[in-house]
Amino acid sequence: MTEALAVTPARAPVDAWIARCAAAVDALFARPDDPAAFAAVRAEAAALVDLDPDLTHARRTADALGEPAAHALRVAVVAVALGRRLALAPAFLRTLAVGALVHDVGCALVPTPPPRADASARRALERQHPTVGADLLRAHGPLDEVVRAILVGHHERLDGSGYPFALEGAGVPLAARLVGLADLHDTLTRDRPGRPAVAPDRALSLLRGPLAPQVDADLVAELEALLAAGGAA
Ligand SMILES: [Fe+2]
Repeated sequence: MTEALAVTPARAPVDAWIARCAAAVDALFARPDDPAAFAAVRAEAAALVDLDPDLTHARRTADALGEPAAHALRVAVVAVALGRRLALAPAFLRTLAVGALVHDVGCALVPTPPPRADASARRALERQHPTVGADLLRAHGPLDEVVRAILVGHHERLDGSGYPFALEGAGVPLAARLVGLADLHDTLTRDRPGRPAVAPDRALSLLRGPLAPQVDADLVAELEALLAAGGAA
């Protein structure tokens, strides 16, 4: 009983934020051309940094949401928590949160491949979403450089195997590395069409092993420590 009384008040504002933020993300994906929809997500992103939610609780609550909000929120809370571990400035964390919440907004505009499209045609369409998303939000007005870097760069990989520009090493901005790692870990640990989820420990093993050339080893170590500290699945 004592534990419930201690935990509930701290979680109530987080749960309310998750509900508001999920609604804002869903509205943006439904109306990506609406500048007001982007402004609403930006406002909720700032609240994430101030709330500093419990990671495990926030991710599990997000799990109950539909897509695209569930993925966007999980990636955002992990990316911001990683940024906090790196002692990044609050102003940077706020832009990191914005970029993480909208990193896949281009998916809302990329055409659905025709039913008979082969894998390479599907991949070519999918690979348009980083630049499509950045172009979309830039049309709403001046776009913060950190947000733009996340939109364009979250599928870039340090070994040059990513897209859209096959950037390498230090050419991949820190914000894109952070969101890219949170995105990759989330993708690995959730069922995707044609690919079942792997366990969180297995995902970390992949990031330290076969996928290591693609990701920032220091950030993987921080992610491992973060998830261990939160007992996060
Ligand atoms: Fe993406």
